[in-house]
Amino acid sequence: MTHPPIHGGNLTWAAAFAGCQPEEILDFSANINPLGPPQSAIEAIQGRLRELRNYPDPKYGPLRDAIAKSHNIDPAWVLPGNGAAELLTWAGLELSQCDRVLLPLPAFGDYGRALQTFGATIRPVSAWNQRLWQVSSREGLLVNNPHNPTGQLWPRWRLRAMLETAQLVVADEAFMDFLEPDSQESLIDWVVDFPNLVVLRSLTKFYSLPGLRLGYAISHPDRLRRWQSWRDSWPVNVLAAAAGVAVLADQGFQQRTYQWLEPTKRKLWKAINAIPGLSADWGAANFLLVRTGMPGDQLQRLLLREQRIFVRDCLSFQELGDRFIRIAVKRPQENRRLVSALEVIFNSNP
Ligand SMILES: Cc1ncc(COP(=O)(O)O)c(C=O)c1O
Repeated sequence: MTHPPIHGGNLTWAAAFAGCQPEEILDFSANINPLGPPQSAIEAIQGRLRELRNYPDPKYGPLRDAIAKSHNIDPAWVLPGNGAAELLTWAGLELSQCDRVLLPLPAFGDYGRALQTFGATIRPVSAWNQRLWQVSSREGLLVNNPHNPTGQLWPRWRLRAMLETAQLVVADEAFMDFLEPDSQESLIDWVVDFPNLVVLRSLTKFYSLPGLRLGYAISHPDRLRRWQSWRDSWPVNVLAAAAGVAVLADQGFQQRTYQWLEPTKRKLWKAINAIPGLSADWGAANFLLVRTGMPGDQLQRLLLREQRIFVRDCLSFQELGDRFIRIAVKRPQENRRLVSALEVIFNSNP
């Protein structure tokens, strides 16, 4: 058996552990919208298969236009990437030029990868205590809003003071699109005023396309030109670029997702909190962090072995320790399967 995964969604590991095929696993470990991928993405991909014989347009004109339109900004301020993860690499390179980088912990594991690759000096701070996030003019900040794994959403005014001081602020908003536009706390419309701001977005979670890989950065065009000069010319393939244009115009899918998420999350949250031995804080995104009386990895393995249900243990988030799991919100009937399985486990192991 290979090492346990450090990211959610490793179905190869889960299936090997459970002794079944990856398709047989009910996956709550990756925070992916269960309603997707949208039909609009599938059709765009199928319609562009002929283009596999061409290199992508290195400027990604239609995709940049579609992203810019969705945020009401100029396309020169947009850089598409091979998932937010690719753009994190370039953010890591720029952050490594700051004396130190404030990193609220726990945090998405890839931040460590991106920062350490370029020898950044990390200054860990508690994600729960924002008063500790005092940043100097020689320091950078890498913040995730809403925050994975806690689900915390910081009002943007609380990040403003840091933007006014820091050398560079990178705001990873990979889960922001799960909030309805009126409730979002995005920093995107501040990029014009703050040349020291980078916002990263993902299209893989909301549109359920993690296997396709697609994300983007929004920042000053000078910075984005620099990033473009560091990387290869075609990080986004033609199918991903076409799917991106299609999904950003798919208001039907966006509305269905908003209508599904809020009531379904509330029901799951209540059901989890009704199980003795489990408690979940409310989360702004499409997942819940659950405190468990049983070690999280033990619970994960029990669920996998007995039910082929895969939840995220939180051992790789060192600040959380072993008493947490993270679960994605899925369709009502899938959530009920998880809740029933947890009820059985906690009723027999109170
Ligand atoms: C907070 C956060 N940022 C970025 C990513 C990477 O997203 P993408 O699939 O667009 O590379 C993830 C994936 O889990 C994430 O949790």
